[in-house]
Amino acid sequence: MIYNFDREIDRRGVHSAKWSVVKQGDRFVPLEDAPQFQEGKRLLPMWVADMDFVCPQPVIDALTARAQHGIFGYGWPGASYRQAVVDWMARRHGWAVAPEWIVATPGVVPALNLLVRSFVSAGQRVIVQPPVYYPFYAAIANNGADLARNPLLYADGRYSIDFAGLEALASEPDVAMLILSSPHNPVGRVWTREELQRLGEICLAHDVLVVADEIHGDLIYPDHRFTPYATLGDEFAQAAVVCTAPSKTFNLAGLATSNIIIPNPELRLRFERTLNSTGLHGVNTFGMVALEAAYNEGEEWLAQVMDYIAGNFRTLREFVAQHLPQIDVIAPEGTYLVWLDCRRLGLDKDALERLMLHEARVFLDEGAIFGVEGEGFERVNIACPRSILVEALQRIKAAVDSRPGVS
Ligand SMILES: Cc1ncc(COP(=O)(O)O)c(C=O)c1O
Repeated sequence: MIYNFDREIDRRGVHSAKWSVVKQGDRFVPLEDAPQFQEGKRLLPMWVADMDFVCPQPVIDALTARAQHGIFGYGWPGASYRQAVVDWMARRHGWAVAPEWIVATPGVVPALNLLVRSFVSAGQRVIVQPPVYYPFYAAIANNGADLARNPLLYADGRYSIDFAGLEALASEPDVAMLILSSPHNPVGRVWTREELQRLGEICLAHDVLVVADEIHGDLIYPDHRFTPYATLGDEFAQAAVVCTAPSKTFNLAGLATSNIIIPNPELRLRFERTLNSTGLHGVNTFGMVALEAAYNEGEEWLAQVMDYIAGNFRTLREFVAQHLPQIDVIAPEGTYLVWLDCRRLGLDKDALERLMLHEARVFLDEGAIFGVEGEGFERVNIACPRSILVEALQRIKAAVDSRPGVS
């Protein structure tokens, strides 16, 4: 089946976070309570990581059939669910997962919180590599742990891991965990096997548990190859927890279904105990149905959507090179999130936000929320019809052009 990703679909009024709220200072407010956005150009939301595309047809068919069944009692992630995960990881990533390693949770972010709670004592520290997905910080702070920052290195438009910094932090006795974003949100790096191996060796040597958040691991551009952390070898897998989900891959985030894969039985038991202590057991029935259909029958859609998103990236890169030369585009190797270095616009954080949100009326994720290293950057979600992307770019150009002194 050929999918049409050019189609603009109205997502207002269907409980979409992306299309319902806007940021005001540090708060999200419903759009209807933000009068300045009621008039004039409609806001283009390109912030949170979901796609403005309809998901694979087999998923819609499976959900429709399940809805017609009409009984929605408690769900159970049984054999066919686990097999779908096992088959996907084997077929797509060459990772042999045993069904019993899988712990289903209602999202990766809740799992990250529970992982910190399970494995990090009060006062111990967790390494993150900023600029990085901001809920990592919250997962650490929410659960009594402290932050250990190992900023990524940024040179010649490319990010890399500061291995010397990592080694120094990991060797400190109070450092218990590293939360790894792989591929890395927001900078779009798909870590190579060699990079992961080096990182893993440091963590193993210093007894630092690796939590690999691989939620973007299916969204990889040609010429890059995703390495699941656990495929580095059994020694690495036994000292790691891997967070996966079909939610980014197939645009199913609202169904709140993810899988935490833990090969080490002791670590798994500890995590399951924490999970049970919250009462958060059980999985959303529609999420399970969607996962099975997506993993078993969604590959054709995924190939087409990645092709379309790659086309969107080319459009963005060419537009920016031609019309917004003050912005440097960091080419993503994976994910549909693009990291823009806007520092040459010469605007401070507030002025940059005013330009994007209030003048262009394009709602991006401000770089600073990913850590101080992100100040002056913006993250744009390009998983939208090309017409919307082009409109957003044109608006940003108009806003930049109308600012005296910005050149
Ligand atoms: C790195 C990363 N982890 C986790 C999530 C969200 O996970 P979930 O919706 O399963 O809680 C996102 C969403 O953008 C993400 O980028």
